Amino acid sequence: MIMERILLTSEAGPESFADYERQGGYSAWRQAVTEGSPARVLEEVAASGLRGRGGAAFPVGKKWQFAAETPAERKYVVCNGGEDEPGSRKDRFLLENYPHKVLEGLLLAAYAIGAHEAYLYVNHEYHQAQAALERALAEARAAGYVGPHPCGSDFAIEVHLHAAPSTYVAGEDSAAVNSIEGKPAKPRQKPPYPATAGIHGLPTVVNNVETLANVPAILRRGAAWFRGIGTESSPGTMLFTAMEGVKRPGIYELPFGTPLRYLYEECAGGLADDRPLKAILPGGPSSGFLKPDALDLPLDYQAFRDAGSALGCGVMTFYPEGTDIVDEVLKIAEFFARESCGQCAKCQFETQQLLRILQMVKAGKATRAALAMIDKVLDQSRGQGWCSLINMPGPPITSALRLFPEDFERYLANGGR
Ligand SMILES: Cc1cc2nc3c(=O)[nH]c(=O)nc-3n(C[C@H](O)[C@H](O)[C@H](O)COP(=O)(O)O)c2cc1C
Repeated sequence: MIMERILLTSEAGPESFADYERQGGYSAWRQAVTEGSPARVLEEVAASGLRGRGGAAFPVGKKWQFAAETPAERKYVVCNGGEDEPGSRKDRFLLENYPHKVLEGLLLAAYAIGAHEAYLYVNHEYHQAQAALERALAEARAAGYVGPHPCGSDFAIEVHLHAAPSTYVAGEDSAAVNSIEGKPAKPRQKPPYPATAGIHGLPTVVNNVETLANVPAILRRGAAWFRGIGTESSPGTMLFTAMEGVKRPGIYELPFGTPLRYLYEECAGGLADDRPLKAILPGGPSSGFLKPDALDLPLDYQAFRDAGSALGCGVMTFYPEGTDIVDEVLKIAEFFARESCGQCAKCQFETQQLLRILQMVKAGKATRAALAMIDKVLDQSRGQGWCSLINMPGPPITSALRLFPEDFERYLANGGR
């Protein structure tokens, strides 16, 4: 198994500007703006097969191409560090410890699409990450990497820091665009997507922090090198966050294709007190639950989709025997009902209805007919919102009902009749 690290390359705490430059940092940026071309950068990133790490795994080259090909007097790029998903802190970790890697990725994205303004959109509660970015920006400016003539070239580039409200929807890409425009951080109706009509209606690429952090290494070492790590459909590595209930909580960088069992047993050390495993939620609150046999799946976007779940942004939760899955889906339903922003009546209705049904189950007041309503509520709202939050509560709830029916049965009113 290739255990090459692309992101977490420093063993000695935060990577300083000097450390980063010593490892070849900013050489891809220098090479691109002085000898390369935007098309070359875009081609290499497209050829690498890099997919977005913000949850949807969208091909990065394709998104950049939409923005590059849309004629406009100005374009923008945004590094999305909104990160308000429960349990996720990999973007904060990268920003605090590897700010230059993220910044260089952002500069390269701007160059590839022809944007002269870039935004670091960072959760406003991430004070340390913001301080790290301010310092990194000042260092990059002083070294001549950011400004009117980066590396002596004529590709002017300015980078701004923008504090993201800490609500879940503020991390959605069009909500980030609204926030940067000074509006409430709520999603826009799509299409058009930000890549063709984002900030001020102009092409705007929004990429996740981790996605951008991969870009400098791809340009320095080449698309073929990147494709040599991971799998055909999911090249490279990914950050997996396993915090809750495991012996060694942490953020682990693993090549795609690594068995989930390796993450669970070797990295996280299994569940505390060696409790047996009952269920896995592999991609945060919008993914489907899996049973322990999923430990043999390779960590790969497609493999998890085929198994009825998703890798999302890599927040892995392992539940011990004895966990009441009804409690877990109730917490998830509460989260989505709370975070539905109120713009779309259907999303608000759906998330409230699901919560009400699950509260009735927990209170022992639901019948089998009430459970059957869940599918109806989901069917009526699928794809009806301005953002995909409306589609998010379905997978955890329906998979829980399918895989752990006995957890629900014992709460049903009248013995489930
Ligand atoms: C409700 C909601 C919240 C989201 N929150 C985030 C977030 O905090 N960070 C993020 O990168 N993407 C988030 N996304 C996904 C973004 O809309 C977008 O797909 C992503 O930033 C694109 O970057 P990528 O292609 O590099 O993954 C969210 C999406 C939704 C629907």
